[in-house]
Amino acid sequence: MAKNILKTPALLQYILETSSYPKEHEQLKQLRETTIQKYGKLSIMNVPLDEAQFISMLLKIMNAKKTLEIGVFTGYSLLATALALPFDGKVIGIDKDKEAYETGLPFIQKAEVEHKIEFIHCDALSGIISLIDGKHEESFDYAFVDADKESFTKYHELLLKLVKKGGIIAYDNTLWSGSVAMSEDEEMEDTIRPKRKVAIEFNNFIANDTRIESTILSIGDGVTLCRVL
Ligand SMILES: C[S@@+](CC[C@H](N)C(=O)[O-])C[C@H]1O[C@@H](n2cnc3c(N)ncnc32)[C@H](O)[C@@H]1O
Repeated sequence: MAKNILKTPALLQYILETSSYPKEHEQLKQLRETTIQKYGKLSIMNVPLDEAQFISMLLKIMNAKKTLEIGVFTGYSLLATALALPFDGKVIGIDKDKEAYETGLPFIQKAEVEHKIEFIHCDALSGIISLIDGKHEESFDYAFVDADKESFTKYHELLLKLVKKGGIIAYDNTLWSGSVAMSEDEEMEDTIRPKRKVAIEFNNFIANDTRIESTILSIGDGVTLCRVL
């Protein structure tokens, strides 16, 4: 078997300290700290720094101009995306929680990227359908899905209509705290167990979908990249 360095807590700390924290944009830092103050444990919903930096680099390599985000929360990945896009780029963010978005909004404004963002306050499914009806078909370079895991398969079918051929659909939390590789009877946190099966089914579905080329990255909680064929 090929050599693989699994991410131990010490290695993750090393990555964060040498690469991620020193390069974190000031407004991303402030948004992250404000989210921790306001939401406590729930602040874990923000994507981790190393994942946000990976997304940022991916968008730049792709020359992405128009992107979509499903699941915004306080906007850590949204702000990272807006900062990575060119001046005339655009990211549409969809979330049913307006208060969380408004918590992060002052930092988006201070970062001077609000003009690149359109926030749609609604349920993800109806938001995505409204984009299809609104003639956005095959117009997005990239979509990032970080909302309710149970609906990923439904979102996937619709996002295939919205993302261009050659574009990327990225799904977050696909390793679900490593539980996807554990057996049912293994000890795991109560919050992890219910969605373990959902994640396994989604990963199997994606691995067998011939309309895309896909890979799972062990960054953050697992990110699956799908390139639309
Ligand atoms: C993990 S958080 C997103 C974190 C965000 N990407 C970040 O890095 O800060 C998930 C978000 O998805 C939203 N969400 C969950 N299910 C949804 C649905 N059916 N429609 C719209 N938003 C939904 C929640 O309100 C929550 O803000």
